[in-house]
Amino acid sequence: MAEKGDLKKVFNQHVQLEDFFTGFAVRPVRDKALGLTACEGPVSNGVKSDEPDVLYQSQDNDVIAELKQLAKEVDACRKCDLGNLRKNSVPGEGNPHAQIVFVGEGPGADEDAQGRPFVGRSGQLLDKIIVAMGLKRGDVYICNIIKCRPPENREPRPEEIISCLPYLKRQLSLIRPQIIVALGAPAAKTLLETNKPIGQLRGKFQDFYFDDFSPPIKLMPTFHPAYLLRNYSDENRRKVWEDMKTVLAELGLPIPKK
Ligand code: URA
Repeated sequence: MAEKGDLKKVFNQHVQLEDFFTGFAVRPVRDKALGLTACEGPVSNGVKSDEPDVLYQSQDNDVIAELKQLAKEVDACRKCDLGNLRKNSVPGEGNPHAQIVFVGEGPGADEDAQGRPFVGRSGQLLDKIIVAMGLKRGDVYICNIIKCRPPENREPRPEEIISCLPYLKRQLSLIRPQIIVALGAPAAKTLLETNKPIGQLRGKFQDFYFDDFSPPIKLMPTFHPAYLLRNYSDENRRKVWEDMKTVLAELGLPIPKK
């Protein structure tokens, strides 16, 4: 009986969570604000040129070409064992001139199967969060700290992160977003080179440095969608929404009312 009650509670919590991040009007793409040129249909910056939604053709073909080249290198990479263990590499996808880049931890089983980031349950929630922000998945760029799935979904090892991080840094230096959203502790801690807990980091912009010469990029740490799904509470979902509102405000984009 108790188990049944618990299941119902969990189910209701998930419904509430999903509701919270849906029900916002999907606004038209603000091409100017997002720095996009007219949409000329989807193009891929990964190796898989038949990817469905994602990208908008941009004027800067160099960036697209470099991102494609990077995706090829990622696919061929065997700097750590993960390259031999995964089905598909998951370099990342999205608008090559995105103002916002979302960075997660690493591909799971669904991402490994499709070679695309955030396409499983966490990805569905991330999509809802993006829509709740008045944006579309194709407006932003989505990628991970590591580009290959660790077996059994174990956490990436430090040496795997160290091998893979240069790919992410190159992606970020090509895209040059105004804001990076680090999804969850591993992404935030890796990019900020800190051991502070995500609960302490989230909610406030932090500085992400590529190198000693370039100016920093604003980084907003927030909870990972998988954490939200596992630890549903009104408080947690509101925290994520507050973080996303702070991101929109920083970019001067309208904040959808709930
Ligand atoms: N979780 C991540 O961190 N990244 C993905 O791509 C999917 C799930």
